[in-house]
Amino acid sequence: MVDTSSVLAYNSWWQARSDTWSRLEEASAQLAAAAMSGQPADELTGTVSGLLDALTPVEQYWAFPGPEVHRRIRELFASASYGRFALLVARITRAMVTESYRTGTGWVPAGDDYEEAGLDEAAAGQAGPDRPSRPYFEVLVVETLTPAQEHALREELRGWRRTADHFSYELVVVGSAEEAIIAARLNANLQACVIGRRFAPAARHDLSSLADFADSRIAADLDGQPPDERDKVLARRLARLRPELDLYLLTEIDVENIAGHLSHHFRRVFHAQEGTLELHRSILAGVAARYHAPFFEALKHYSQQPAGVFHALPISQGNSIVGSHWISDMVGFYGLDIFLAETSATGGGLDSLLEPTGPLRQAQQLAAETFGARRTFFVTNGTSTANKIVAQALIAPGDIVLVDRNCHQSHHYGLMLAGAHVVYLNAYPLHEYSMYGGVPLREIKSRLLALRAAGKLDRVRLLMLTNCTFDGVVYDVQRVMEECLAIKPDLVFLWDEAWFAFARFHPVYRPRTAMRAARTLAERLRAPGYRSACEQHRADLPDDDESLLARRLYPDPARARVRVYATQSTHKTLTSLRQGSMIHVHDQDFAQKVEESFHEAYMTHTSTSPNYQILASLDIGRRQVALEGYELVARQLESAARLRNAIDTHPLLAKYMRTLWTADLIPAEFRESGVDRPLFSGLDIMSQVWETDEFVLDPSRISLYIGLTGIDGATFKREQLMDKFGIQINKTSRNTVLFMTNIGTTRSSVAYLIEVLVKIARDLEESAEEMSPTQQAAHARAVLKQTAPSAPLPDFSGFHPAFLDRGAGGPDGGPPTPEGDVRRAFFVSYDDARCEYLLADDVGQRMEVGQPVVSATFVTPYPPGFPVLVPGQLFSREILEFMRSLDTPEVHGYDPQAGYRVYTSKALEIAQDEPA
Ligand SMILES: Cc1ncc(COP(=O)(O)O)c(C=O)c1O
Repeated sequence: MVDTSSVLAYNSWWQARSDTWSRLEEASAQLAAAAMSGQPADELTGTVSGLLDALTPVEQYWAFPGPEVHRRIRELFASASYGRFALLVARITRAMVTESYRTGTGWVPAGDDYEEAGLDEAAAGQAGPDRPSRPYFEVLVVETLTPAQEHALREELRGWRRTADHFSYELVVVGSAEEAIIAARLNANLQACVIGRRFAPAARHDLSSLADFADSRIAADLDGQPPDERDKVLARRLARLRPELDLYLLTEIDVENIAGHLSHHFRRVFHAQEGTLELHRSILAGVAARYHAPFFEALKHYSQQPAGVFHALPISQGNSIVGSHWISDMVGFYGLDIFLAETSATGGGLDSLLEPTGPLRQAQQLAAETFGARRTFFVTNGTSTANKIVAQALIAPGDIVLVDRNCHQSHHYGLMLAGAHVVYLNAYPLHEYSMYGGVPLREIKSRLLALRAAGKLDRVRLLMLTNCTFDGVVYDVQRVMEECLAIKPDLVFLWDEAWFAFARFHPVYRPRTAMRAARTLAERLRAPGYRSACEQHRADLPDDDESLLARRLYPDPARARVRVYATQSTHKTLTSLRQGSMIHVHDQDFAQKVEESFHEAYMTHTSTSPNYQILASLDIGRRQVALEGYELVARQLESAARLRNAIDTHPLLAKYMRTLWTADLIPAEFRESGVDRPLFSGLDIMSQVWETDEFVLDPSRISLYIGLTGIDGATFKREQLMDKFGIQINKTSRNTVLFMTNIGTTRSSVAYLIEVLVKIARDLEESAEEMSPTQQAAHARAVLKQTAPSAPLPDFSGFHPAFLDRGAGGPDGGPPTPEGDVRRAFFVSYDDARCEYLLADDVGQRMEVGQPVVSATFVTPYPPGFPVLVPGQLFSREILEFMRSLDTPEVHGYDPQAGYRVYTSKALEIAQDEPA
C-alpha cells in the first residue's frame, strides 16, 4: 500500500510513487506465479488491486507510463492475464526505478500494440543507432479534451519528431486549473505548460487524496471569470510555483489582441487552428534555451582545437604533463580533457571575466534569469570574495553599516577594508545548544531608530544579514526590507546566501530569498492601491519609537528604493567546482550609482587569471537548476525529512540523540503561527508558516542534539563520525552536530548515516553495560557537562571610545550610538609597540580594577566560528567567561601561551587623541 501519511509528511510523492510501483512489481510477480501453479491467489489479488487503486489518482499527472498504458494494465489485471500483466508492470517499474525512460529513446505508443511496438524499448531505455539518447521531459496541457481529442493531440505532436531533435517529450493532459497546480507540484519532469481556453476551474473528480498538493483557492478565484482572466490567473500561479516552466497560450479567438495584453505572462501565444508544428518547435526551443550553457560550450569547443601555446600556463593542452617522466599520473587521475580546457586565452571564442562581452556575459545573463536577478556576476574565489566585492562597491569610508555580529569573517574583513563604521547587531542566543539564531527585526529597527535620533540616518548605507544561518534559521526577507525601508528609504541590503542558492528552486523557500523578495517588494511598491493604503497606515501611526517598534511598518512608495544584493556559494549547495560563487543584484539604482564602483571592486578582488573550470561549472550548474532544480530540491527535502523521522522514531537512538525542531531553534515569540513542527504538518501548513513567521527553519539542515551521549560535538564529529565511519560534516556546537543534506544526497547515503548512528548508539549501550562504578560516575559527569547550561553566549560588548564613531551623539547632541571604526582599530595594531599580550586571568584582573581591556585582533573560536572579539572591542566579563568555558582547541587570534593581543593603555590614550 502507499503510505499516504508519509506522502503528506514528506510533501512529495517521489519516493512513495517509486516504492509503490516496486511493491506492485513484487506482488504482481507473486500473483503470476500463483496463477501459473494454480495456487489460491485471493489475498494477492487484493494487494495488487489496492496498489493499483492507490496509483490511479496520481498516475494521470505523469506522462510515463501514462494513462493509456495505465488503462491497459488495469485491463490485463481485470481479465486475469496475470503473466502479461506482471511482465508489463515489471518493465515499467524497471524503467521508472532506473529512470531509463528519461533518456528519451522511445515512447509508449497508444492502443493495443503497446507491448510489441514500443514499451519494451522505452522501458529498457536502450539507445539504438537510430535512436540517440536525448533528455526527455513532459509538457502539461490544460484543456478540457475528450479521450479521442487527447489521443489525437498526442499523436499529432509525436508526428513532428525528428531524429535530429535534441530532446523528446510527452504530454500530461488535465482539464482543470486545480489539476494543473497539482501536476506542477507533483511532476518534476514538466518543463512547459500549454494553457487552452477551455478548462474548468475545478476538477470534475474527487481530489481529496491529493488535497495536500492542491491550491485551495484557485477554483474559487477562477470561477465566473472570463477566459482571458482565467488564463492570466492560472499562468501567474504556475509561474509563482515553477518559474522555470515555459508557458504557452493556445487560443482560437482574437489571438492578435490577446497576444497584445497577455503575452508577458506567456512565452508565446498560438492560434489553435494553425496546427501544432510551431508549438512543438517552440517547446523544444524553450528547453534548448535553458540547456544552452554558453561558456561551458565555448570552453569545450576551444579544448578540441589544436593550439600552439606561446605564453603562460604550460599545463595548457596538457603540454607540461603528458611528456613528463614524473607527473604523468596527473593525467591518469584527472583525465586529459581538463588540461585541454586549461587556457589563459580570452579570445578564440572564449571571454574575459573582467570585461565580458561574449559567452561569459551570456552565461551571467542566463544565470540572472534563472536566479531571478536583474544582474548576476560570477566569482571564482568563493563568497568570501563576493562579500568583499559588494562591501567595497557600496560603502565609502565613514558610511554606517549594520551587520549581524555572527556573520562570516569575510564581512568583518570587507567592512574593515572599506572603512565602514560598524553597528554590530545581536542575534537571539540559544544558550542550551551554544548557538545563535537570527537577528530579530526589533533589534534592527531599534538600531535604525537610534541612529535616526542621533541625526545619523543619512550616513547609514547598508544592512548585512546571513540568510539562512549555518544552522538553518531563515529570515522573513521581504518583511525585514519593508520595515527597514519605512525608516530609511534608501537602505541597501546584502543578504549573504552562501548556504541558500538552492532555495530559489522550491516554491516554499523562494519567497524568502533575496531576489524573489526584492521583486515582490518592487511590484508591491508599484501596485496601484499600495500608495493610498500606505498613506492611510502612516497617517494612523504615531511617530514615537515604541509605536514604530511594536507595529508593522510599510515603506513610502514615493521614496523607497529597492536595492538588494545576494551572494551565494553556488559550490556549497548546487553543482559547481569549489569556490564557484555568484553575486545577484536587484538594485534600481545600480546603473546610476553603483556600476562603476562595482566594477572597481570587482577588479580589486578578482584575479586576472580566473579559473575557467570554475566558471564553466557555474554555467553548467545554472543549466542544471534551470532544468531540474525543482526536482533536485524537492528530493533533497524528502530525504532530509526521512532522515529526521528515522532518527526520531528509532527507540535506541532516542536514548542518546534527537533532532532539533523548529520549536527548539526558534523561540515562540518569533513564531506567530504557533506551529512547532511545520515540516511535518503538510505542505499547505508549512507554506502558511513560511508566509507568516518571523523566522522559520530550513528543513534540509538537521541539527542533532547529542548531549546524552556525554560526547561533545567536536569529538563526536572527529572520533565517531569521521575516523570510524568516514562521515564528513562541518559544523558542531558544544552538544550538537549538524547534518546538511544537499541535491546530491541519495537515499542510500541517508540509510548509511542512520546505520552509523545506530552503530554508535549500540557501542555506547555496550560500553555503558561494562563500565566500572568510577567510569559510570565519569560518564554521568560528562553527560551533565553536555546537557547543563553553559556560560551564556555573550552579546557584542561595544567599542572602546577611542574607536567609536567621532560623531557619536550626533551634531544636535542626540544620544550616543555604538558604531565603531574597525579599520582604524585594525591598523593601530600593526604597531607592535602599541600592543601587548595578556593571559585571561590578567585580563580579568585589569577589568576588576576598572581598567578597560581592548582587543587588537579578531578572536574567533571554531566552532562556533564567529568572532567573539573584533579589533577595538572591549572585553566584558561575559566574554571572558564564555571563552573560559570553551573547550575548542582552535581559537583564531588567540595564542594559548601568550594570551590575547590587546592594546596597551598608552596606545588607547594616544588613539583617543589622534584624528580619526
Ligand atoms: C555565511 C557564510 N558566508 C560566506 C562564506 C564564505 O563562502 P566561501 O566558502 O564560498 O568563500 C561562508 C563559508 O562558510 C559562510 O558560512
